[in-house]
Amino acid sequence: MTNESQHHASACTAVVGLQWGDEGKGKIVDLLSPSFDAIVRYNGGANAGHSVVVAGERYALHLVPSGILYPGKLSIIGNGVVVDPEVLIRELDGLGSRGVDTTGLVLSSRAHVVMPYHKAEDELRERLLVQAGNIPTAGEATAAAPSQAIGTTKRGIGPCYADKAHRATAVRVEDLLRIDVLSRRLRHICALKNAYLSAMGGEKTYTPDELIAWAEPMGRRLASAIKDTTYLLHDHLAAGKRVLFEGANAALLDVDHGTHPFVTSSSTTALGIPSGTGVPGTRIGNVIGVVKAYSTRVGNGPMPTEQINAIGEGIRQRGREYGTTTGRPRRVGWLDLVAVRYAGMLNGVSSLAVMLLDVLSGIDELRVCTAYRLVNSGGVGAVVTGRFPPDADVLGTVEPVYETVPGFAEDITGVRRRADLPSAARRYLELIERGVGVRVSHISVGPDRAQTIIEA
Ligand code: GDP
Ligand code: IMO
Ligand code: MG
Repeated sequence: MTNESQHHASACTAVVGLQWGDEGKGKIVDLLSPSFDAIVRYNGGANAGHSVVVAGERYALHLVPSGILYPGKLSIIGNGVVVDPEVLIRELDGLGSRGVDTTGLVLSSRAHVVMPYHKAEDELRERLLVQAGNIPTAGEATAAAPSQAIGTTKRGIGPCYADKAHRATAVRVEDLLRIDVLSRRLRHICALKNAYLSAMGGEKTYTPDELIAWAEPMGRRLASAIKDTTYLLHDHLAAGKRVLFEGANAALLDVDHGTHPFVTSSSTTALGIPSGTGVPGTRIGNVIGVVKAYSTRVGNGPMPTEQINAIGEGIRQRGREYGTTTGRPRRVGWLDLVAVRYAGMLNGVSSLAVMLLDVLSGIDELRVCTAYRLVNSGGVGAVVTGRFPPDADVLGTVEPVYETVPGFAEDITGVRRRADLPSAARRYLELIERGVGVRVSHISVGPDRAQTIIEA
């Protein structure tokens, strides 16, 4: 590698989730932000809920990048994000009322707009899928088919990305600034959406006038933040500035590589950065994979290590495992190293940030899944594999193979050096490093920015 390309590569770092979301990405992005000039969201939308806690003050961010608490940084919402302008403005107002300077926010003109009918469609699709699951299928006179509802956040994410792919019915952020053009386009969009939504049992119909009345003031409000972020980022990099990419959602929710169909609709891994920002992957020198010390999942879909018992409930209470976006209780389970290793491979992670380690204190024995037994593999005897089968049906039937290790009883929330952790906690971290094949660079022992052990 030449010096110049080395310099380029190290200018960009990515922070990505290696499980099913809510690993603590917001905390790590906030922690790293002082060393960067721009913090960039590249995927997802207001389905994300990223918490940052500073000196007891909690901030929940949905669309605004988690570097916003540092004045003077650019907070960029890239083209790969789907933006609900109402949520964005509410978030900016909320931050402003708490004294946060939000003038560094930049919004890509190419990002797609989550329109009111996208949220209605998300809701209707989920309702229909639940109903369809309750209808017994042929040959199953009594047993209902399992629901194929995804358990979305109902933020309109899937329908907005679907319109991006459909093209003719898409609305981009730049359209909020050319109301005449939008007004004309909304005529055919409304005709199509009204037909579609009423066929799905929707009661509300939309008119171009009401959607313009909704969109126009928001376009005016956001106008000065709307830019061509692709050139902005490349200009930044050419000037030797440093860029931090903030993943939303997580690897196992990736539309291509996750547990399809129980996934979100975007490219959630570092593989989504090039398309979601216009910055080529060769520029990304460092990828930090964020891993919760156990597993959680919100919504439907397979989760091999799920614990629907007192262990799971105990972790849920100690970890306050309720969604930042929807308030739904999160499903809880043991750490799944098969899944994390797969996610680390997809992301090309350079190091790991292990989060919420403090939550595991007080459990006598900890279990970690190191392989899966494929129970429906046919042949003689069950096949054991260390590979993650992303097929949701297969994953739903695997049996986790656990390694059981001693737990630790000490309160570790005040520990600031890895060497000062109880030996069982250190051994747990070593087990993770061995299992994923990557070193741990950050250990989080509490929600606050300060409750972090950094091994740079
Ligand atoms: P994100 O979506 O990946 O940014 O994660 P969320 O913010 O949705 O969920 C992580 C939750 O864990 C938040 O409530 C954080 O404040 C909290 N949290 C982060 N790190 C730690 C930690 O080390 N210990 C504890 N107890 N809580 C943490
Ligand atoms: P952060 O960034 C946890 C899940 C939803 C649902 C599925 C699809 O906070 O980690 P969607 O509304 O995207 O169509 O829902 O994906 N999901 C998340 N779960 N954390 C998230 O984001 C999530 N974003 C989407 O619960 O199962
Ligand atoms: Mg979250």
